[in-house]
Formats: sequence, C-alpha cells, structure tokens
Amino acid sequence: MNPKITVETIRSMKSRGEKIAALTAYDFPMAKLLDEAGVPLMLVGDSVGMVVLGYPDTTHVTMAEIEYHTRAASRAKPSALLGADLPFKSYETISDAVANAKRLIAAGAEFVKAEGGREILPQVKAIAAAGIPFMGHLGMLPQHVLEEGGYKIKGKQEAEHQRLLEDARALADVGAFAIVLELVTPPVAKEISQGISIPTIGIGSGLDCDGQILVTHDLIGAFPWFTPRFVKPRVNCAAEIKSAVTSWKNEMGA
Ligand code: KIV
Repeated sequence: MNPKITVETIRSMKSRGEKIAALTAYDFPMAKLLDEAGVPLMLVGDSVGMVVLGYPDTTHVTMAEIEYHTRAASRAKPSALLGADLPFKSYETISDAVANAKRLIAAGAEFVKAEGGREILPQVKAIAAAGIPFMGHLGMLPQHVLEEGGYKIKGKQEAEHQRLLEDARALADVGAFAIVLELVTPPVAKEISQGISIPTIGIGSGLDCDGQILVTHDLIGAFPWFTPRFVKPRVNCAAEIKSAVTSWKNEMGA
C-alpha cells in the first residue's frame, strides 16, 4: 500500500515541480481503481449530478447526494487525498458552510471544495478555522451556469484577469491548500500558478497549472452524450459496455 497522501503532500508536490494528477471518484470501485492507478488526489465532485444522476447541471445536487457518494468513495480507504464538493447553496452563510463542511468530513472527505473567490472568503476562513482543509475553485463556476448562460472561458478581459489573480491570492491567504482553475485562459492560469504558493489544479485551463483534474467519466468515455472539448478520452467505455452486452445477448440467443 502506498503512503497516505495528505494536504501537505499535495502542497509539497508544487514545491518539487511534480505535476498533480486529480480525478473524480463518486463510488467505491472507482476510488479503488484510481488509487491503484496511483492518482494522488480525488474528488467527489458535484459533476456526479450530471454524469451519474442525470441532472442537466450541478445546481440540482444536494448535500445528501454528495454525502452518499462521499461515503461510498471513502470506503475504498484510498491512499489518495479524497475531497468532496460543497453543493449549490450549501455554503451561502458562514454557519451553513461550516456545518455542511463538517457533514462532508463526517462522511469521509478529507477536504472540501467550494466555488468562488473573495465573495465566499468569510465562509472559507470559517471552514479553515474549523480545521477543515479547503480547496478553492475559480474561473468558470458550474454552480453559476444558469446565471452565466453557459460554460464560458474566463480571463479574456483585463478586469476578469485581475479579478482572478486577486481572488486566487485571497483564497491562498486565508488558508486554501489548492485551487481548481476551470476554463481559465492558459496565460492567466499560468500567471496565477506562478503567482501563488499553493498548487493550481487546472481543468480546460492549459498545461501550465501545477496539476490537472478531469471528470473520470470524460476521460474513460463513460458519458458519451457530451465530452468537453479539452478532454481526449483514453478508452471508450460506453462502446465497450454496449459491445459486452450485445455479445452476451447473442450468445444466449436473445
Ligand atoms: O464537480 C467536479 O467534478 C469538479 C471538478 C471537475 C473540478 O468540480
């Protein structure tokens, strides 16, 4: 068994210039498989709502659903550091943020992630003060997809570029141990990564982040109805499943 990965391990990977591979895991077998494949960082992301639960976006995901999936993934007892997303509207107030972060830790998460910058700083401070490791999420914020009218690239305008930089510094200053940068223009993602001491974990934000995260279903072709442009599936699980089912049916003469 590999040594347990901690928040400190993830932070030190940045200092050593080691790239951080991160993937989503929503259940026991996937957490076990990713762990066996040596992935150091796993997330019970609210993307579970789209690729497992059939919701049109992540705004429908509930605390109960994230807790359920966190309990399942954590039963794999991964060496990887396992975190969970605070879902939509679960961290609007400081007391909700802390109470819900504690629920996710009780379900087996070792850190929590929430979307936003300086507007959620009081919540982030309170979560950190409660001793719960916190991962930030900047750039395109999927929980805001309805107000934003789509999944748009961030950092193109100068004001947005500056806002992202300042948000990243603010999150790092109040104790976030890493920040996901989603759909941030690669030059801005690079500048943020070089400008803060904690790791950035990019998704659709170019290769200069300290690590990369993907929705595992996208990487393995298990959700064939939509694949983000920046993902190159490494296997076509959907086709493999259909072919296995067809072969089994044919063999029994069905
Ligand atoms: O919900 C999720 O899976 C995420 C990651 C892809 C960053 O937030």
